[in-house]
Amino acid sequence: MTDLYAVFGNPIAHSKSPDIHHAFAAQTGQAISYEKRLAELDGFATAIQQFLEDGGQGANVTVPFKHDAYELVDELSDLAERAGAVNTIELLDDGKLKGHNTDGLGLLRDLTVNIGVELKDKRVLLLGAGGAAKGVMQPLLAAGTAKLIVSNRTKEKGVQLAREFGDCGFTCGTGFDELKDKPFDVIINATAASLAGDVPPINPGVIAADTVCYDMMYSQEPTAFLKWCAEQGATRLHDGLGMLVEQAAEAFVIWRGVRPDTAAVMAKMR
Ligand code: ATR
Repeated sequence: MTDLYAVFGNPIAHSKSPDIHHAFAAQTGQAISYEKRLAELDGFATAIQQFLEDGGQGANVTVPFKHDAYELVDELSDLAERAGAVNTIELLDDGKLKGHNTDGLGLLRDLTVNIGVELKDKRVLLLGAGGAAKGVMQPLLAAGTAKLIVSNRTKEKGVQLAREFGDCGFTCGTGFDELKDKPFDVIINATAASLAGDVPPINPGVIAADTVCYDMMYSQEPTAFLKWCAEQGATRLHDGLGMLVEQAAEAFVIWRGVRPDTAAVMAKMR
């Protein structure tokens, strides 16, 4: 019996999630099929309803429906609750839907396991204060970062985001123009700037040769942010493909109870 899964988004044609999950399934001997489903912008709930009627067992949710999914599900994991967004829906035995958010854990696993960065006691700069940034705040702080600075184009949103997570660890918000000439151990770009080929206008003094520069976006070519970091002398450059594969693996564990080997799948995706 083949179990049905899908990713919902708008647009969705570009999604790599079916390739990733089919690779996980082949590797672990799980019988699943995984589709892309385009939902109308005001039709997320209807699309999920149809999917459940079709026998759907679980779903991933991408832009722009992560908040709709948060509102739709019957229960939330702690991480989804804190993130205010759901990227993974689990169909429980009693027919209820549970919302999870695996984005933050995906980033954390990519940083710590794949890239080998120890986050404990490190100074981390997070650029951006939108949904993508919010989704990774709790896991980053829980990893024991010494200081997590949230820097955003609109300073007030950065300050607000840091305030919201103040109970999880030491974090504060700033505008881009307030960043000093002091290198961070890790810089994570969670802004939507790369989508437009832009680079957040930050002080190059935040980068040292050994600063880990991470862009949550990925593309075939290096992103504008990673190119800029390289121009400032950074050598440890990583895009978000690892995070994409790791967040998918976390969803696969929730649905199937088996952890796939992400390294093999990442190599294939490259
Ligand atoms: P997402 O879900 O991708 O995080 P979002 O919630 O709309 O999308 O947030 C987009 C983030 O990227 C915000 O932090 C935004 O900054 P503002 O709060 O000032 O709008 C940031 N952003 C978007 N375009 C940017 C650009 N060209 N340069 C710098 N930051 C940018």
